[in-house]
Amino acid sequence: MKYIKDFTIKDVQDVYDGPGGLLWEAVMGEQIHSGGPEATDALALQVDLKKGMVICDICSALGAPARHLASKYGVTVKGVDATKTMLEKARQRTKDAKLEHLIEYYEGNAIDLPFKKETFDVVWGQEAWCYVTDKNRLIQEAHRVLKPGGKIAFTDWIITGVISEKELDPLLETMAFPYMESFDGYQELLKKNGFKLLQALDQTEEYAKCFDEYYEKVHVDLKPTILDNFGKDLFDFASNLVTIWQKAAHEHKVGRGLFIGQK
Ligand SMILES: C[S@@+](CC[C@H](N)C(=O)[O-])C[C@H]1O[C@@H](n2cnc3c(N)ncnc32)[C@H](O)[C@@H]1O
Repeated sequence: MKYIKDFTIKDVQDVYDGPGGLLWEAVMGEQIHSGGPEATDALALQVDLKKGMVICDICSALGAPARHLASKYGVTVKGVDATKTMLEKARQRTKDAKLEHLIEYYEGNAIDLPFKKETFDVVWGQEAWCYVTDKNRLIQEAHRVLKPGGKIAFTDWIITGVISEKELDPLLETMAFPYMESFDGYQELLKKNGFKLLQALDQTEEYAKCFDEYYEKVHVDLKPTILDNFGKDLFDFASNLVTIWQKAAHEHKVGRGLFIGQK
């Protein structure tokens, strides 16, 4: 049975418009996902990115993956994000990096993309679709905007083992996730919506190691900065968050999945 919490897009915007966005960047880096640029290259390798391809990055945040892909692989990226602060920073940093000719950002919702059908070679996502309740609609939208033969390539925080609602609830609560898909669930959604499943990888082991790093960062390196800039409440919140997610990841209850599908 699906366990869904009552978080809306407004709750997500409040996180990323507020100190949450700064905290996540400090802990995870400008590419706000586990594994950083190496994880982006690993995903790029899976879809064989070629110069000139047009990519849609759903939930583009600070635009760091978009800049990485554009500068390293010569692709064009259209990023979509729902949070104003993230979009403003993404646009400014893209201008500073002189990559405006390759990247554009759009304010929008992942489940209602502001693009015509058959626009993209690749629909891309890294560790953000866990904020979207209606993942079926998201996958349908990805399928609609992809050219025939185009690929969907994404990683996400997923359920990778057996977990009770009682254990899942505080995890979702700390992240403002309404609903996390399972490893099998994403594969079903892709197939159901017309994708040929090319790859599904459970990367929980790697993900758990990233949480070891985040635990250290929060409790050692970043502790004075978090306390000085955000106060004790946010430090306690971050401390609890990394502690419970690290434990659940090492128990292989939650983790990261990588999925590739073809239209
Ligand atoms: C963890 S960050 C994404 C990280 C980014 N993919 C990266 O790798 O750097 C989550 C982002 O998803 C965005 N987001 C969450 N739900 C969304 C939705 N329904 N539509 C568009 N953006 C959304 C948030 O505004 C936030 O910027």
